[in-house]
Amino acid sequence: MDKMIVQGGQQLNGKVKTSGAKNSALKVLFATILAEGKHVFKNVPRLKDVESTANLLQSLGLETEWNSDELIVHSKKLTSVEAHYDLVRKMRASILCLGPMLAKYGEAVVSLPGGCAIGSRPIDLHLEAMKALGAEVILKDGYVHAKAKKLKGAHFLFENVTVGGTENMMMAASLAEGTTVLENVAKEPEIVDLAEYLNRMGAKISGFGTSVMKIEGVEKLKAAEHSVMPDRIEAGTLLIAGAITGGEVTVESCNPVHLESLILKLRESGFRVETDKTSVTVFPLKEWEAVDITTAPYPLFPTDLQAQFMALMSLAQGTSVISETVFENRFMHVQELMRLGADITPKSRVAVVRGKPKGLSGAPVMATDLRASASLVLAGLTAKGETQVSRIYHLDRGYEKLENKLSALGAKISRKE
Ligand code: EPZ
Repeated sequence: MDKMIVQGGQQLNGKVKTSGAKNSALKVLFATILAEGKHVFKNVPRLKDVESTANLLQSLGLETEWNSDELIVHSKKLTSVEAHYDLVRKMRASILCLGPMLAKYGEAVVSLPGGCAIGSRPIDLHLEAMKALGAEVILKDGYVHAKAKKLKGAHFLFENVTVGGTENMMMAASLAEGTTVLENVAKEPEIVDLAEYLNRMGAKISGFGTSVMKIEGVEKLKAAEHSVMPDRIEAGTLLIAGAITGGEVTVESCNPVHLESLILKLRESGFRVETDKTSVTVFPLKEWEAVDITTAPYPLFPTDLQAQFMALMSLAQGTSVISETVFENRFMHVQELMRLGADITPKSRVAVVRGKPKGLSGAPVMATDLRASASLVLAGLTAKGETQVSRIYHLDRGYEKLENKLSALGAKISRKE
């Protein structure tokens, strides 16, 4: 079982480049189902989840290949419209083949994803959205069976903001007959990235990045090229790595606008943070103030940076109250941070973090989910002595060569089989 071994106490300094965004790459790959032909993707991160998505597309009859640093999808008529449990259970985002298959082939059989470590994560809003477009949706034997002669545009209000639900709806409505108006949609940058790619394929989507989106259905879409946006969560994680070790780190090839909520909180905590068009720099600070955060949909503080920020607050002056409003069980990292000496009291969706500026002490800890594993690595960078993070396969789902990037900044970190 892979482990990450971290020797604490090294200040990180220097420049590091962000990879392409996992949470955009997966979606644009699913969108290739909508248009036959050769799709070319640049800046795709080499991650387990990207591999899983490519495997799923292959199981449906599409061909994928890496050509140096480009990922190519040869999309053609699917040989199957069934996404099997053994593929879907590995990656919840597989549900995003539902909308494209329904729109293009009038049918989709997709395994229910099942729960995951951070919460139940149902797909009820995805299914309501498909029904609004006229699909017949039945749940049977652990699978979603969806059918529609031809999807018809509709006016649909999402009762909760859902990134995946918005994306499934965008892809389905692109080929529906007539116009679809969506309200209370997600505004994440990954939504904007997907919309820009779909429009390049010939879709007619407007209003993306705001709460109301309009999609005029078209007859046909065509294959296109796309360069995936930078990964704002990786960029935020690397910034916090600089902050927590008291170093000066510049994160390049990122979009500072996507990191505004984190930058505001770092500044509120006392850090000097400077930005230019494609990079953000955090400067050395010996002691920082505890600040409260509440996670919420973009542009507010991202739930995917909550665990990493909690590691930083474990060393702050004072007490920080961290509220997790997006997922019902996203404090799995708390018990593990406490093994390193952090003083945290988790209560359902709120964790009270009493900062310990004197620092943490290294210990063996266990990763439970993707962002929790990042949080434990960050804490290990500053904890005295050695920290061993086990089940590090969680990290590989969402970070491309993180240990290489951190070592290049001065961290003493290595992987042990
Ligand atoms: C995406 O997940 C991201 N994953 C998550 O990142 C991210 O945390 C999340 O958006 C929120 O920003 C990918 O893009 C692959 P949601 P998604 O639908 O689409 C509930 C990471 O670490 N909900 O916005 O699954 C749901 O249970 C991952 O990279 C319903 O109730 O998130 C959750 O509590 C983790 N019914 C909340 O909404 C539904 O039909 C937000 O979920 C759909 C969602």
